[in-house]
Amino acid sequence: MSGTLRKQDASPVADGEFAFTWADFHTIAQIVHAESGIVLADSKANLVYSRLAKRLRKIGLRSFRDYCEIVQREDGADERQVMIAAMTTNVTRFFRETHHFSLLEKIVLPPLLDRAKKGDRVRLWSSACSSGEEPYSLALTILGLMPDAGKHDILILASDLDPNMLARAETGIYSAAQVEPIPADLRRKWISAAKAEGAMSFEVTPPVRELVRFRELNLLDPWPMRGRFDVIFCRNVMIYFDDETQNGIWTRFAKVLEPDGVLCIGHSERIPASMPFELVAQTSYRLAGGGAR
Ligand SMILES: C[S@@+](CC[C@H](N)C(=O)[O-])C[C@H]1O[C@@H](n2cnc3c(N)ncnc32)[C@H](O)[C@@H]1O
Repeated sequence: MSGTLRKQDASPVADGEFAFTWADFHTIAQIVHAESGIVLADSKANLVYSRLAKRLRKIGLRSFRDYCEIVQREDGADERQVMIAAMTTNVTRFFRETHHFSLLEKIVLPPLLDRAKKGDRVRLWSSACSSGEEPYSLALTILGLMPDAGKHDILILASDLDPNMLARAETGIYSAAQVEPIPADLRRKWISAAKAEGAMSFEVTPPVRELVRFRELNLLDPWPMRGRFDVIFCRNVMIYFDDETQNGIWTRFAKVLEPDGVLCIGHSERIPASMPFELVAQTSYRLAGGGAR
């Protein structure tokens, strides 16, 4: 972001309850990009207003300039996190892009689970897990093949930068509509009716939960995990990042993927040819040359 004042900076983005100038928008966009990798183009200015107006009301501010002052302060980390969470898109579904789960069930998991039976560790990573449907779908796919998976050294790391999403994911409770895409046999066996009040809800059963470990992790930050992953899901998050950020993360995935591991990405995402991956199925990659590094 240039330090020079752009022509439009002092002008309002739109008329509304809270004064919101282009300078405010650019301040917010710059912080969101630096801290999360998410790019907010000028066309997103009205979206930023509508997503943050509620927050300004809640904390009793009169203008976005006041809000910018808070999120620019060194001690504004908590508010920056709230702001970034308000900017993220958390849309997800059980068994979303179902071809990845078929690939796992038919090709990727059988040899891994055979190895687990002999005592090997198997690690999967849902790296932008939102409210948990993706990692629980991985767990359900594993349990469909190996009902006693919990007795073996098999774990799914489920991470996201948004602590609110992780808290929701950890409850493992979903509505009837949310559990609908789960294949009926898996649903019958591994999902139970929840005791929550009000609308009928469902929860993932302990064998499903026990395969998943939730952790807060910003993909831009250092990754504390030791050991490589057999399967990495990084779906529908890179789309929000610029090329430089994406390439940095693809390069880091290559370093933490097992030589015969698989990386699954979202339907509108692509890994550039310059990266050390080769396409092996729809939006699914292995390390190029079998992982010779
Ligand atoms: C659209 S959801 C994708 C959920 C799931 N992977 C899927 O495809 O259904 C995008 C998720 O990425 C998370 N996210 C955004 N930026 C992130 C970052 N820098 N590090 C980790 N997670 C991030 C958001 O919090 C959100 O939960």
